[in-house]
Formats: sequence, structure tokens, C-alpha cells
Amino acid sequence: MKFPEHVTICEVGTRDGFQIEPEFIPTEEKVEVVNLLAEAGVPRIEVTSFVHPKVVPQLRDAEEVMARIHRRPGTRYAALVPNDKGAVRAADAGVDVIHTVVSASESHNLANVNMTIAESMEKLRAVMDVARKTGLPVNCGISTSFGCPFEGDVPLGQLQSVVARLVDLGARGIGLADTTGMANLRQAARVLEDLMPRFPGIEWTLHTHDTRAMAIPNILAAMEYGVTHFDSSIGGLGGCPFAPGASGNVCSEDLVHCLHAMRISTGIDLDRLIAVSRRVQEIVGRTLPGQIVKAGKSDRKYPVPDGVAARRTEPRPSRYSPPSSVPGSPSPLQ
Ligand code: COA
Ligand code: ZN
Repeated sequence: MKFPEHVTICEVGTRDGFQIEPEFIPTEEKVEVVNLLAEAGVPRIEVTSFVHPKVVPQLRDAEEVMARIHRRPGTRYAALVPNDKGAVRAADAGVDVIHTVVSASESHNLANVNMTIAESMEKLRAVMDVARKTGLPVNCGISTSFGCPFEGDVPLGQLQSVVARLVDLGARGIGLADTTGMANLRQAARVLEDLMPRFPGIEWTLHTHDTRAMAIPNILAAMEYGVTHFDSSIGGLGGCPFAPGASGNVCSEDLVHCLHAMRISTGIDLDRLIAVSRRVQEIVGRTLPGQIVKAGKSDRKYPVPDGVAARRTEPRPSRYSPPSSVPGSPSPLQ
């Protein structure tokens, strides 16, 4: 398999995760989590969304969160918007980049943003105008890229058409979102094999939900095709209020653990990220789906049971290290 040396993670837990929490997360706790994520070295954070506050009341404090976070140099702070009204609010709040949303399936787009895909495209054209005037880059996410909870299969031609319209509007970054965890490796490969050469020069991001335990396998498949940008959420928070069956995103610390174990760098301090995940569990008041917080890192060692050490005759194996390590690459589990 072919793997990149470096991967860029965008943390979406405070948006995709907090938007679906049953209890409103107090603003100061949202701010604290964003700050802790930035201090852990997370390079990109989708902080919140500028959507209708009645539709997603959990994120009604978007302006306040943006105003109160500490801006760490080198971290890119983004927010999700469905239309130009959201884009103006996001720009006024000082985001570094605008993330937009439209679905590849008409039913999900109507359920999510109360617009047909064609109507969304008109709103996104207006978002692009706001972005040009304010000098902000735009990343366009496509929900239900790999399947829709209402329509099932999303034909590749339909996804191509949505991508083409976004590229025509001026999108330079496209996020393919597996909103309810329907993708599999073969399908992810087929989609990327088709889209990547068809739309050269686009920065592709894969946004996964681990609804069916397929997120990390799909990420590995996408890396094979040259994708190096992935969304993930701390602890595995997440879900779409308008997609039945949606559950958490791929868990950030599990993904970073997996990447570092394979000597793929992320710039993120994994121990600090695990600590953030523990803090988020305290905030939401329940155990989150992430595995590494429970299991510890793969280099965790347990005390040898009584009597075992004295009877051991074989030399203790040292940890496997690849024969040709790349200079400057991270140690397996930092
Ligand atoms: N932020 C705040 N208010 C907004 C807004 C935004 N981004 N976009 C529209 N509004 C307001 C309008 O100003 C209008 O206000 P008024 O009644 O006081 O005049 C009202 O909402 C209705 O406007 P309209 O364009 O008809 O919106 P709508 O009711 O059809 O809702 C969306 C459309 C897109 C705003 C709404 O469906 C939404 O916010 N969806 C987000 C869904 C989401 O976040 N999903 C999870 C992420 S994938
Ligand atoms: Zn999502």
C-alpha cells in the first residue's frame, strides 16, 4: 500500500458533534475545547456553524464562540455555512475559511437545508461572492456523497454533477462526506478514481462517520488514492440532526493514533489530544465511542503477572521498527 508522509486533520467535533448533543453545551466549554484542540496542535478546526439558530439551537452561540476563542498562530479556524447569510455572519465573526454544505441527494438536501440542490447552488454562488469580497477561501462539503439515508445509493453521475457545479462556482477544495457511514473501500476507491483525475487541482477531503465501523478502512483506501485531508471528531462525537441513523465521525485520537503508528505525521500531540477527549467526555457526561481513550496507545505495557518474569527464557522481543525509516519522520507513537 502507498501512504503519505503527512496528513492534515480538520477537527469537526465542536460543530458536527456539539450540534447534535441533547443538552446545550455552555459557550465557555465550547471555547475551552476549541482552545485545547489548538494547543494539542490540531491544524484545522471547524469551530461551529452559522445556520438558522432555530434549526440548530445547540450552535446558536456561534458568534460568541468565535469571539472568545484564543487564536493560535498556525491553526485555521473554519465554520460551516449553508447560504450567504451564514457566510456574512462567518466573515464578520473572523473565520479563516468558510466551509459550505450541499448534499449529493435531493432528499437529504431538502431535509437538511430546506432547499433543492439547484436552490442550494444559487445560495452557494452568493457565498462565493461573499468569499471573494472578504478574501476568504472556501471549502465545499458534499453530504451523502456515498449514499443517502432516504434514497440509498447515490449514483456516481449525480455526485460528479454536484462536484462539477461547485468547481464551476470556483471551489478549490471539495469535501466528500459519508454522512451516515454507508461507504465501503471498493466504492470509495471507485469514486476517487473517477473524480480525482476528472477535477485536477482540487484539494480533496474525506469526511467520515463511523456508523458501520468503516471509517478508518475508508480513510486508508483514500490515502492510497492520494487523499491527505481528513475530517475527524474528538472522542468520535458527531451526527447529523437531519439524517436518521447518523452517528459519530471517525474519532480524532483513534485516527491520529493509527496514523502515528504507521509513521504518518499529523503535527498533533497525541497525548494532549487524548486528554482533550477525556475533558470532552466530562463535558458531555458520557463515555464516547473512541477506542484509544479506553485501550491506551498500542505501546502500552501491563505489569508482568506474578511468577511469569522468573520463568521467561526467551529474550524479550523489541518493538518492530521498519528497516528504512524516513529521516525526520515521527517515532511510531508520539
Ligand atoms: N443564519 C441565521 N439566520 C438565517 C440563516 C443563517 N445562515 N439563513 C437564513 N436565515 C433566516 C432568514 O434571515 C430568515 O429570517 P426571518 O424569518 O427573520 O426573515 C429565516 O431564516 C428564513 O430564511 P430562509 O432562507 O427561508 O431559510 P429556511 O427557513 O428555509 O432555512 C436554512 C434554511 C439553510 C437557513 C436552514 O435550513 C438551516 O440553517 N439549516 C442548517 C442545517 C444544518 O446545520 N445541518 C447540519 C449540518 S450538515
Ligand atoms: Zn458529518
